Amino acid sequence: MTALVFLDPDFSAGRIADDTAAQLSVLDQGVTRGDGIFESALYTRQVVRKLDAHLARLRVSAQVCDLRIPDEGAWRAAIETAVAEFDAATPCAEAVVKLVATRGSDETGVGTSWVMVSPAPELGRKQREAGVSVLLLDRGYDSTVAERAPWLLMGAKTLSYAVNMAALRHARKQGAEDVIFISSDGIVLEGPTSTVLLAHRDGDTKRLITPTLETGILPGTTQGAIFAAAKEAGWELGYGPLVPEHLMDAEGVWLVSSVRLLTPVNSLDGTPIARDAELHEELTAMVNAIE
Ligand SMILES: Cc1ncc(COP(=O)(O)O)c(C=O)c1O
Repeated sequence: MTALVFLDPDFSAGRIADDTAAQLSVLDQGVTRGDGIFESALYTRQVVRKLDAHLARLRVSAQVCDLRIPDEGAWRAAIETAVAEFDAATPCAEAVVKLVATRGSDETGVGTSWVMVSPAPELGRKQREAGVSVLLLDRGYDSTVAERAPWLLMGAKTLSYAVNMAALRHARKQGAEDVIFISSDGIVLEGPTSTVLLAHRDGDTKRLITPTLETGILPGTTQGAIFAAAKEAGWELGYGPLVPEHLMDAEGVWLVSSVRLLTPVNSLDGTPIARDAELHEELTAMVNAIE
């Protein structure tokens, strides 16, 4: 079951809608052009995790796309209504709370915004345990493009994920399970739906590294929360630029995201990579403690 709630000025707590019935205009530019933004958050233990960070990133994505979206209070109210609806019909351990805002139809100029809550995909939970085999794929632009070409909306979480999904299908056809994008100048970027982390251990010193945001990747809320916890725990933190050799030489590489959480990478382009069990356990504990 999916709980669906539209943000609607006539309904202060959001307007509950039937997810099995037609709801959206065919003229909505979210549909016709992929022109809109979204967030996916994890709902578990009665809490929408990192909600402040998701709402903050939604706001930034809206600014980058020149999109007017409802205020934070309206989102919080609709989310509360949606999770209550979901809990009443489908109690389950892990659910995805998706926030979507589109540019609306050409005619009205009014955007469309809604919240959906649905059970978290089983595959993500399996991959969290088993890890994934990863292909390194060319993203098709260089690591300085964000600065040069703001119209590419780098760093915003837009609805235009067709390329990301195509990269995952390509990897699956090659027998791999996930992807890490590499820029045309050879810099490690991100996964199609995840941030890349790597770790090193040198005696008692533990170091956690992620690609620099200057490459135009999405600022990951999970990476941000893990880095904050790792800092508390005395880890050293580092930010790229990274090249594929850095991944091969690490004691562990993970793909992290809000719903799948911390997923270890087992191999890169068919070459097995190190998996330090202790580092994995420590990071897993940090991820599980994120509220
Ligand atoms: C392209 C991309 N990078 C990184 C992430 C990870 O972001 P977060 O940890 O906020 O879920 C996502 C999440 O879906 C993503 O789509």
